[in-house]
Amino acid sequence: MSFAPAGFQPTITRKLALGVDNTFATPLNQRPLALGADVAMQSATKFIGGHSDLLSGVVTVRDANLLAALRQARELAGATPGTLETFLAVRGVRTLALRLERAQCNAMTLAERLARHPNVTLTRYPGLASHPTHAAARRQLKGFGTIISFDVRGGASAADAVCAGLQLIQHATSLGAVESTIERRASIPGQEHLPPALLRLSVGIEAVEEPLDRSRSSTPQRGRMTGKQEEIPR
Ligand SMILES: Cc1ncc(COP(=O)(O)O)c(C=O)c1O
Repeated sequence: MSFAPAGFQPTITRKLALGVDNTFATPLNQRPLALGADVAMQSATKFIGGHSDLLSGVVTVRDANLLAALRQARELAGATPGTLETFLAVRGVRTLALRLERAQCNAMTLAERLARHPNVTLTRYPGLASHPTHAAARRQLKGFGTIISFDVRGGASAADAVCAGLQLIQHATSLGAVESTIERRASIPGQEHLPPALLRLSVGIEAVEEPLDRSRSSTPQRGRMTGKQEEIPR
């Protein structure tokens, strides 16, 4: 949001609607309409479904005319969700709070670890006190979410090598699922402007403490689920 300089005379007056993509925060962590937004959007493909098997979305508005226009656009476009999608979304919502609680806990653990890692030059997670919007996040969010991004020392090739070396964390664009996923965002067409060595990690609900304990042991056990902690460069 910006402010017009003193004496500024607009030649066109138009009411702008403020829309918020609330996908990363989820409705449990942030309520955009209560904070003043006109439109809140949620990719239900992500946290609401939570299992990487749903393509859907949610738009929430406060204005009745806008709601009618959106309903009409949806009908004309034929974008009405099918019964399976609706079932998966409703089933996902039932465990959203539990999944989010666990994944956020994991995310905080990993973010703190990444922030201390010598081969990570920058870790971005709103739960870290070092994050530029940490204070605002504390005021505005009920939880800091599950998305971390970090820059790997050594540039794009080093970041690609980190992804290629992971066995349990899926290399994928999607996010917000029970399993952790990672992606070098600048490798995606249209995202080349992002830092080349930035990896975006969507933290899942896997056990974090157990692998942490095991990673301290000199004899890693085979045949059991290990976990993301053994895979993050240390
Ligand atoms: C923040 C955010 N919003 C919206 C979307 C779009 O979601 P969908 O795949 O449900 O169209 C994405 C997809 O990656 C996203 O990351």
